[in-house]
Amino acid sequence: MRKNKSIAILSGGGDCPGTNAVIRAVAKKAIIQFGMEVIGIEDGYEGLISGNWRKLQYSDVSGILTVGGTILGTSNKADPFRYGVEKGKKLEYRDLSKTVIANIKKLGVECLVCIGGDGTLFVSNRFHKLGVPIVAVPKTIDNDLRGTDVTFGFDTAVSIATEAIDRVHTTAQSHHRVMIVEVMGRTAGWIALYAGVAGGGDIILIPEIPYNIEVIVRKVKDRYRMGKRFSIVVISEGAKPKDGDVVIRQIVKNSPEQVRLGGISFMLGKHIEDATGIETRQVILGHLQRGGTPTPTDRVLATRLGTKAMELVEAGQYGYMAAVKGSDITAVPIEEAANGPRNVPVDHPLIMSARAVGTCFGD
Ligand code: F6P
Repeated sequence: MRKNKSIAILSGGGDCPGTNAVIRAVAKKAIIQFGMEVIGIEDGYEGLISGNWRKLQYSDVSGILTVGGTILGTSNKADPFRYGVEKGKKLEYRDLSKTVIANIKKLGVECLVCIGGDGTLFVSNRFHKLGVPIVAVPKTIDNDLRGTDVTFGFDTAVSIATEAIDRVHTTAQSHHRVMIVEVMGRTAGWIALYAGVAGGGDIILIPEIPYNIEVIVRKVKDRYRMGKRFSIVVISEGAKPKDGDVVIRQIVKNSPEQVRLGGISFMLGKHIEDATGIETRQVILGHLQRGGTPTPTDRVLATRLGTKAMELVEAGQYGYMAAVKGSDITAVPIEEAANGPRNVPVDHPLIMSARAVGTCFGD
């Protein structure tokens, strides 16, 4: 007889296309192959604080492979170790980790499967160290998690951004303008790099390579002189000038990571227009990159990662995360992913290829 009779599953952090495909893979394998009961926790760790969960039937996880978002809901604010509670105008922090542990005990599950980005996995790793049996699946459109070569959701975000760049291309050409497309990614430039290359961006600006505005202006002017009276700039929300800083869109006080980036394209656009005299417009893609159906690549990846997570549960390999290494799905300690962001190396082969075809990185 199997020892594990039931598992709980949660999705935390910003939503990400493919999360439902992971939930489906985990729950279906648990139900079909192991005859286990599956409990879905609502809104990430928030549900383990408030005691909000429900039993997931087979029918709940059937038909969700292609559906965007997460059927369980999510939160990028609920850190049980430092939970922000508003007291009038003041924000107080409470340690509610014991409540979470008590609720997991109350659920009587053998293991908690956590689908999350660095914030959720950092919290999960702390619970694992306190003895909670946890298995993880890495999730973020930003592709900036350590311990895995790639995360699900990234391919979808890149496809959406690439389509936007393609569309902006024709209007830039028609109006002889500079068009700037600003993409997400926090402090990592993966989305800008991949979508920029796929969409043939003339200038790609990523956080890892601070830009020199003069170099950008020269590139736009050179193109104009060569008869290309338009330019496409793809910029990551976390990009910054050599002598300047990132642009902050919003501070979310009760979130463990309070800074939300966004808006750098407006500053850059003004500089380019003032220096070149060429009309410049900007498009901020924002949360469009996180919404809607995952690409086939992400559906496949999510299914492989979800079923691998269940293999880890079966093997009692707690404290591990399903991860991608080359073309294999493997397991690495959750700790690896909780160890800060994975940035684009400045000598990444794709940067080299892009440079070889004349793409400017603003340096
Ligand atoms: O981590 C995913 C992400 O979409 C980042 O690219 C972006 O900076 C951030 O989340 C936005 O967070 P929010 O949904 O709180 O605006």
